[in-house]
Amino acid sequence: MKKIVFVCLGNICRSPMAEFVMKELDKGESLHIESRATSSWEHGNPVHQGTQKILRKYAISFDSSKGSQQISRADFEFFDLVVGMDESNVEDLLQISAGRYDDKIKLFRPGGVPDPWYTGDFETTWQDITAGCNALLELIGRTR
Ligand code: 4NP
Repeated sequence: MKKIVFVCLGNICRSPMAEFVMKELDKGESLHIESRATSSWEHGNPVHQGTQKILRKYAISFDSSKGSQQISRADFEFFDLVVGMDESNVEDLLQISAGRYDDKIKLFRPGGVPDPWYTGDFETTWQDITAGCNALLELIGRTR
């Protein structure tokens, strides 16, 4: 089973949205999916209300007890793919990896996913993330 972790700055807006959308698309068939933060800023905090609202709107089930968690060395070891939600997340991940896990680190989609923490536009985030998850699933499907 392929293990994927989605990573953004806070692990409350974008990466949890990607985690739960991807789980819904995969239906538990072939992937182990989680999400993490590059920072410890939101440690333990729940999924952002904006992301929760979108997930409810589009009937995506999610774990409402999920708290933000910073990525660890053990995560880099465990996961096959470490997917940064934007370019700066990828830069931070490469810095944390320090050459050890660079092969596992990928950008979620060309151009990344702009941060709704700053834009307030969770609907655009939803569109970016569903498109990116479908593309990623197809890519993984082809190479599984
Ligand atoms: P996320 O959004 O990286 O998509 O979870 C953010 C959440 C929190 C902060 C920044 C971005 N923050 O500055 O606390």
